[in-house]
Amino acid sequence: MIKEQIISRVSEKRAHIGVVGLGYVGLPLLVEFARNGFQATGFEVDAEKARQINNGESYIGDVSSATVKELVNQKRLRATTDFNHLQECDAIIICVPTPLRKTKEPDVSYILAAAEEIKQRLRRGQLIILESTTYPGTTDEVLLPMFTETGLKLDEDFLLAFSPERVDPGNPQFQTHNIPKVVGGVTDDSTAAAAHLYSQIVNDVHSVSSARVAETAKLLENTFRAVNIGMANEMARLCYALNIDTWEVIRAAATKPFGFMAFYPGPGIGGHCIPLDPHYLSWKARQHGFDSRFIGLAEEVNSRMPEHVVQLVADGLNDERKAMKGSRVLLLGVAYKKDINDVRESPALSIIDRLRAKGAEVRYHDPFVQELRFDDAHTDASGEPLDSISLTDDELRSADCVVIVTDHSEIDYGRVCTLAPLVVDTRNALNGELRRKSCARIIRL
Ligand SMILES: NC(=O)c1ccc[n+]([C@@H]2O[C@H](COP(=O)([O-])OP(=O)(O)OC[C@H]3O[C@@H](n4cnc5c(N)ncnc54)[C@H](O)[C@@H]3O)[C@@H](O)[C@H]2O)c1
Repeated sequence: MIKEQIISRVSEKRAHIGVVGLGYVGLPLLVEFARNGFQATGFEVDAEKARQINNGESYIGDVSSATVKELVNQKRLRATTDFNHLQECDAIIICVPTPLRKTKEPDVSYILAAAEEIKQRLRRGQLIILESTTYPGTTDEVLLPMFTETGLKLDEDFLLAFSPERVDPGNPQFQTHNIPKVVGGVTDDSTAAAAHLYSQIVNDVHSVSSARVAETAKLLENTFRAVNIGMANEMARLCYALNIDTWEVIRAAATKPFGFMAFYPGPGIGGHCIPLDPHYLSWKARQHGFDSRFIGLAEEVNSRMPEHVVQLVADGLNDERKAMKGSRVLLLGVAYKKDINDVRESPALSIIDRLRAKGAEVRYHDPFVQELRFDDAHTDASGEPLDSISLTDDELRSADCVVIVTDHSEIDYGRVCTLAPLVVDTRNALNGELRRKSCARIIRL
């Protein structure tokens, strides 16, 4: 039986693992398989990424170049743009992007392109796993019919499963091996084989009854975050209106040892997951005549946060008798979260767009993002690209307003509070001590 064949190849570390798409998700996964004794080949459409991997250079923060180099030298790891090598793989894991169209509908074209490459070379004995976040039904409604068109049969010739990725870029505490993995196959054999494969690199594997359950579990996780962040953002705006310190309120509520989980407000949501994934769920729900109202409401509240931040800047400048037009506004951080370089869907882009539309002269400093281009940043924001400036004393002094958009750890916030005249803090980066000693006027979210 095909299941036993794959399981035994995996147990004996004879299985060759292919990962399609070497980004934030695919590269750490590929490295983890190689580190655990498997032959691992990464498939990329971006030739430059493949070249870098084969040269022992990592372009993902959570993976060190030293590790990649060592594995490449040991001939355990390689990357290629030649999809013919897919035939050599016993297990193939798809980790390509799943963005939204302008209409906010799911764009599964990357999944389809990757699946087409696999389909053309599908052979008896292969296990295919989709990891890209997507709507419930993608694995068995879209991928399965493609693969069975080859004449090969599920369970007899190949296996197919979905296993969502939960990687948290920039989080040193949780990496691939210690984040529990949910696995759901299109058949029981597929679940068993996929679960066995992941148990080689992950401490804890949780099998579910179908690919649909696994697909929906991932969407629940990220919708849960989007909705709760939306709630925190609404509380922040409510507290601002009532002149109450939101952060102190959350800190106090979080002392409850049960029934409360702290979520924090911010300048808006970003990254490739939280702003996008709930739309995959609400789109699928709409196909079945169901209106998911929490998702819509969270999206509405979260997407208004950049506008609120710009209003705080305008209020702060107004109190100094300054107009937004012509004022120098310096953003600290443009990545969507601290200590990483990812600007996809970052609220900073929308904030910059809005500030520029009001005539502000905008600059930014981000130790992780040297250049900010608006054309490939996956948002509606547009305009001239910007370069990160050095955070000199002069820049801080001459800014009319400094806006902390991302609370990167390496910024000296004490210096910011000493030199800048006005600071808008959207992340609670300035603690009580800093605020007490500050020479700057501080406006907090
Ligand atoms: N980034 C995260 O934190 C995160 C977390 C959990 C889940 N996910 C999900 O994982 C998936 C991948 O996300 P990511 O952040 O790694 O994306 P990414 O953009 O960082 O990486 C995707 C890679 O796939 C490559 N690619 C595109 N089409 C391809 C094709 N046909 N064949 C081979 N390679 C191809 C791209 O060149 C890119 O390098 C998405 O569905 C995302 O929602 C991401």
